[in-house]
Amino acid sequence: NLPRHVRLVEVGPRDGLQNEKQPISVADKVRLVDDLSAAGVEYVEVGSFVSPKWVPQMAGSAEVFAQIQQKPGVTYAALTPNMQGFEAAMLAGVKEVAVFAAASEAFSQKNINCSISESLQRFVPVMDAAREQGVRVRGYVSCVLGCPYEGEVPAQQVAAVARELFEMGCYEISLGDTIGTGTAGKTRALFETVGRDIPRDKLAGHFHDTYGQALANIYASLLEGIHVFDSSVAGLGGCPYAKGASGNVASEDVLYLLDGLGIHTGIELAALVQAGERICQVLGRDNGSRVARAWRGA
Ligand code: HMG
Ligand code: MG
Repeated sequence: NLPRHVRLVEVGPRDGLQNEKQPISVADKVRLVDDLSAAGVEYVEVGSFVSPKWVPQMAGSAEVFAQIQQKPGVTYAALTPNMQGFEAAMLAGVKEVAVFAAASEAFSQKNINCSISESLQRFVPVMDAAREQGVRVRGYVSCVLGCPYEGEVPAQQVAAVARELFEMGCYEISLGDTIGTGTAGKTRALFETVGRDIPRDKLAGHFHDTYGQALANIYASLLEGIHVFDSSVAGLGGCPYAKGASGNVASEDVLYLLDGLGIHTGIELAALVQAGERICQVLGRDNGSRVARAWRGA
């Protein structure tokens, strides 16, 4: 009962690059996004409209949007935590946005400087404005399998936040294992709990690979009927408000897993590997994808 098609949400340009300390030029970001769409990626999270004091690397997101080559059929999205971000995104011509909440109070405070319920209230006008303008909104919940400040996070707490976002109008809820502490068993149990309130085809998995469990967690999610996953080319990234959080699971490695299962994504592995190699060269960092490293050695 594995799906025939999986949608990969490429978050490298946003979740990947947001944590990089060195300046990255708009041209390099644009190149990355265009390389990804050329490789067949259907959905790219290009940037975010957040406070530049909090996340300086995302300050140029409007310019990136202005310069990418928008390929028909590809969704180019941005994070918008509040109305200010949403309005900036609209000025930049963004057609899909994402709001982000947390399942843990402490993380909510560190990440967006307010409580969970305050954050949900802030999203209401964003949802209203988006509906008016025909913009789809994706919803994130962070810390679904553990919080860097609070430790264990009960699945019921995740389910409650996810349900609020869904009822508010988010068309899909991505459950984020922000610090990568989740295991396959906990992942299945989480989707079991959250899946009681929200149809599974409206849920996505967002796994950081800090403990090396992300691929196993994705396989566990597939068995639970989940068929949308967020990943980051070359395993770029980490979260600025989750100390020690490594990158998202590498897109190349997820693609290799899915290809091996005969699950279609529309993405070409060789081109994706090349996109990852190029951005790693720009950043002067190791490629976080095992597949890309093996490919290079072969
Ligand atoms: P705040 O300081 O509480 O906001 O920040 P404020 O409304 O009091 O405004 C303070 C200042 O920020 C003002 O500027 C505003 O103009 C400005 P000042 O008058 O001081 O010069 N401001 C903004 N500027 C640009 N764009 C905006 C915006 N809003 C206010 N949208 C805020 C609240 C949410 C803005 C802030 O905390 C913030 O930007 N946080 C960054 C959060 C972030 O980007 N985190 C990383 C992404 S989430 C993630 O990685 C997790 C995920 O991957 C899933 C997972 O792995 O779990 C999605
Ligand atoms: Mg993340």
